[in-house]
Amino acid sequence: MKHRLLAIPLLLAGLNLSLSALADEFNADDLKRWQAGFMSTVKSGEKLFHGGINNPNTMSCDQCHPNAANTHPETYPKFQQQLGKVAVLGEMINWCIRNPLKGKPLALDSDDMAALQAYITWERRGVALAPGKH
Ligand code: HEC
Repeated sequence: MKHRLLAIPLLLAGLNLSLSALADEFNADDLKRWQAGFMSTVKSGEKLFHGGINNPNTMSCDQCHPNAANTHPETYPKFQQQLGKVAVLGEMINWCIRNPLKGKPLALDSDDMAALQAYITWERRGVALAPGKH
């Protein structure tokens, strides 16, 4: 009995050790690198948004959404009539790629989709989240 009771704190100590090995550890250099990576993704998204998407017609996102500000990323997920369901931002981006641009939708986990979302969201940084809002 005594042995079993002793085993509990030992087990907890072991768990704690293995969890701390998984904790996020980073330094100022890591932060700099990650921020630079993020900004380079924003730049790629900006290019895609301003004519960089390979689509059959000559339409580009900025013709209807001049600087991405009227794309309201802060309101997602929300019900979108065009899709008939609660949609995430990427699904609405794909709606525009399929319809006005007549292009092929992007995989939701593709680098180009991440770049478009990074740019669109960066343009609206600081705006309060308002999921579901119309
Ligand atoms: C010909 C005009 C046109 C072009 C070009 C266009 N869109 Fe749209 N976009 C629309 C319309 C219309 C809507 C629907 C507005 C609504 O119902 O909220 C929309 C909605 C959106 C929304 C959601 C806006 C909201 O308020 O919920 C996003 C995000 C978006 N577009 C991104 C893009 C991206 C990215 C591209 C380029 C790949 C693009 N659009 C190209 C017309 C366009």
